[in-house]
Amino acid sequence: MHMSIPKAIALLGIGRQNLRLIPVDKDFRMRTDALEAAIVEDKGADRTPIAIVATAGTVATGAIDPLCEIAEIAHREGLWLHVDGAYGGLAALAVPEQFQGLSSADSLSLDAHKWLYQPLDCGCLLYGDPARARQTFAGSGDYVRIFNQDCDEAFAFFDESFELSRRFRALKLWMSLQYHGRQAFREAIRRDLHHAQMLAQAVATQPGLEVLSPVTLSAVCFRHRTKDNEAILRRVIDRGRVYLSNATINGQFALRACFVNHRTTAADALAIVEEIMSAADELNG
Ligand SMILES: Cc1ncc(COP(=O)(O)O)c(C=O)c1O
Repeated sequence: MHMSIPKAIALLGIGRQNLRLIPVDKDFRMRTDALEAAIVEDKGADRTPIAIVATAGTVATGAIDPLCEIAEIAHREGLWLHVDGAYGGLAALAVPEQFQGLSSADSLSLDAHKWLYQPLDCGCLLYGDPARARQTFAGSGDYVRIFNQDCDEAFAFFDESFELSRRFRALKLWMSLQYHGRQAFREAIRRDLHHAQMLAQAVATQPGLEVLSPVTLSAVCFRHRTKDNEAILRRVIDRGRVYLSNATINGQFALRACFVNHRTTAADALAIVEEIMSAADELNG
């Protein structure tokens, strides 16, 4: 789960202490048995569950929660289902088969500034039924009605979210979709996915390195088996040829590569292993 979720819970006034963190399985996907148990436990304690937040592409490993099963639980229990697809959701354009159940979400967050290659910022929230958002946020009274007489709409854009005045963020996305076409984005995302698999393979064939989590999308978490990985990361960044971040996987410091740039080439992907091994060698010297 991304740290934006506890922040949202706090902003909504629900209180972080009312957020239940659901354990994950060995592939870092939400365990639906644990989700069901948490709902039963809360109901037993006279607390009312209201929503489930699933993730379609976690920030650290790119894991996709079992969306169909989670949607079934949400439906059965009458809970709102939000899917955080900020990083991974847009890969559904390229590999829809990995995102079954996504269309059952009541709300879905997507960051076009991540995997649709847009400049910051271009976040987006989609609703299964926008009327429910309008019920929540509308109510700006006469101003909305006067405004709406002109544009012949029953609602205004600011009736669907917290924000009122805002920049025209959608313009850059609309223009690049018009110019390049959806297929170009699909192909670029497929290339990123392919580069992640290439890197995972290159890591797996390098005896000094090991992959730490399944590579579902374009994030690859791995480590040097014997050296100080944090020191390697600092050195790799200083060398300036490739840029990696880090994650904690099963308590271990992991090097994390994430491919979300349409200009990245296969050679760049393979350069990561070269850079890691050179940085590791430098640590000896
Ligand atoms: C899974 C996930 N959710 C939410 C966010 C927050 O996105 P933003 O910084 O655009 O608000 C991120 C950003 O890394 C993310 O990876």
